[in-house]
Amino acid sequence: MILVTGAAGGPQGATGRRVAELLLARGQEVRAFVRADDERAGELRKLGADVVVGDLREITTVRPAMRGVTRAYFTYPVTAGLLDATAAFAAAAREEGVERVVEVSQLDAQPLAGTPRMRRHWLSEQVFDWAGVGAVHLRAAVFFENLAVAADPGELALPLGPPDTRIPLISGADVAGTGAGLLLEPGPVDPVVPLTGQMATIGEAAAALGLPYTDLPPAEWEARAIGRYGDPYAVEHLTHLWAIFRFIGAGDHPLFRVTGETIRRFCGRRPETIREFGAR
Ligand SMILES: NC(=O)c1ccc[n+]([C@@H]2O[C@H](COP(=O)([O-])OP(=O)(O)OC[C@H]3O[C@@H](n4cnc5c(N)ncnc54)[C@H](OP(=O)(O)O)[C@@H]3O)[C@@H](O)[C@H]2O)c1
Repeated sequence: MILVTGAAGGPQGATGRRVAELLLARGQEVRAFVRADDERAGELRKLGADVVVGDLREITTVRPAMRGVTRAYFTYPVTAGLLDATAAFAAAAREEGVERVVEVSQLDAQPLAGTPRMRRHWLSEQVFDWAGVGAVHLRAAVFFENLAVAADPGELALPLGPPDTRIPLISGADVAGTGAGLLLEPGPVDPVVPLTGQMATIGEAAAALGLPYTDLPPAEWEARAIGRYGDPYAVEHLTHLWAIFRFIGAGDHPLFRVTGETIRRFCGRRPETIREFGAR
């Protein structure tokens, strides 16, 4: 039995939803952890998943969901509560003797990372490592979906400086495909898996989405973002994230490397491009 969290799928990448569907298509037994018993939960049941409803921050719902589970996929959206959810999940997985937890982290998860959320991802990675549950950290680049959510109908306005500012990108589908592949892999795998499907400038990325790019002053972006995201935690993370890319600009960074071989190995195909994503 494989436990998949975030299985309903949200706006950030729907990686849990995609992992659940990929595993079910491969004939795996899947327990889908959702927050609400809504239409999406009904669709998962129709696909053959054992649906459990709960809150990842609450051990009373996570612990029973872990019964009989051997492998698990953990994802928690960019909002408050990551470390509560991690602690509950890691404790329950350890108690059950889970052998592999594939969890979604971020490209630069480290204690001195430039956004508070990235530093929390590093802490979360540590907790999963201490739990001894075969943790695999998917250190993912910026999702294509992140730019799509940030876009207005007629433009992509972000505080990223000139259009030649570079960004490491990946599709939610490639994160999920790699996650599912790692869950199905019987042998040992690397505990840290960096994931970048494409390096693009923000001008190229906007064009691939069929939009002109506008450079917004950071303060203006932050003021607009509160209305768009409605979540100060998400705005704090994104404000710092865009500032990092704006600072690097057209320059290079050791993390700006496409990991095509990893994606090919676990997804069975080359990384999706943002142009393909934009044309979907
Ligand atoms: N976006 C990016 O550019 C980017 C880049 C790198 C890494 N990441 C990482 O990707 C992860 C998010 O991706 P994703 O594809 O999973 O996001 P997503 O598509 O937005 O899905 C999040 C899922 O979590 C569920 N959920 C939210 N709070 C919950 C709770 N308390 N208990 C149980 N379930 C809860 C949501 O359910 P409802 O829909 O019912 O609320 C939704 O199904 C984050 O860890 C983020 O740091 C994102």
